[in-house]
Amino acid sequence: MNKINYVAIPAILFAAASWAEPQQTLKTQAQQLIKAYGKQLKSELQQSLKNDGPTAAIGNCQLKVQQLRNADDEWQIGRTSLKVRNPLNMPTAWETTVLAQFEKRKQQGVAIADLQHEHIIEKDGQRYYRYMQAIPTGELCLKCHGDNIAEPVAEKLAAHYPADQAKGFKTGDIRGAFSASKKLD
Ligand code: HEC
Repeated sequence: MNKINYVAIPAILFAAASWAEPQQTLKTQAQQLIKAYGKQLKSELQQSLKNDGPTAAIGNCQLKVQQLRNADDEWQIGRTSLKVRNPLNMPTAWETTVLAQFEKRKQQGVAIADLQHEHIIEKDGQRYYRYMQAIPTGELCLKCHGDNIAEPVAEKLAAHYPADQAKGFKTGDIRGAFSASKKLD
């Protein structure tokens, strides 16, 4: 009797897992890509801050779009925020809605690491999977996104980003979010 139960339980779990697989797989893919890019961004930023200082490191808080494309053609990945530095990172309507929801959920006590969103939409007969994940503001980020940005850094930022809104953040704020989408068959 025991033996039958032992065999039957994994079989049921397996059936449940394969039924739920497509969306779960997409979510895992999105999370893995975001984790890899996030890690790469942070380590390049850290290294450059250490070796060259914040004025020179400014170019290292940028997603290298070419690299992203080469890594995985099927996914589109970007970063966005309710307060952007680069207008090219401006959120779309759905991203704005999700970012606002993230702020609300954070106020309700949800940890930033747990702020995720996913949905599938159909647009002009084409289905897309979309995923967003909040990005926290850490100590490291304040040099360029905080209240007291050193003069040479502030000057360089102002020259490159005249419409810069991404200042005045504090540790523990949501700095923005990664956003990923993939065309489905
Ligand atoms: C050395 C300066 C510097 C530091 C330190 C820095 N950033 Fe940035 N950040 C920038 C610049 C410059 C941009 C604009 C990049 C672009 O043109 O796409 C930016 C853009 C961003 C964006 C994209 C949205 C937007 O505002 O355009 C996010 C999200 C972001 N930074 C998060 C962070 C986080 C999180 C940290 C800390 C881990 C951090 N940054 C540290 C300079 C910096």
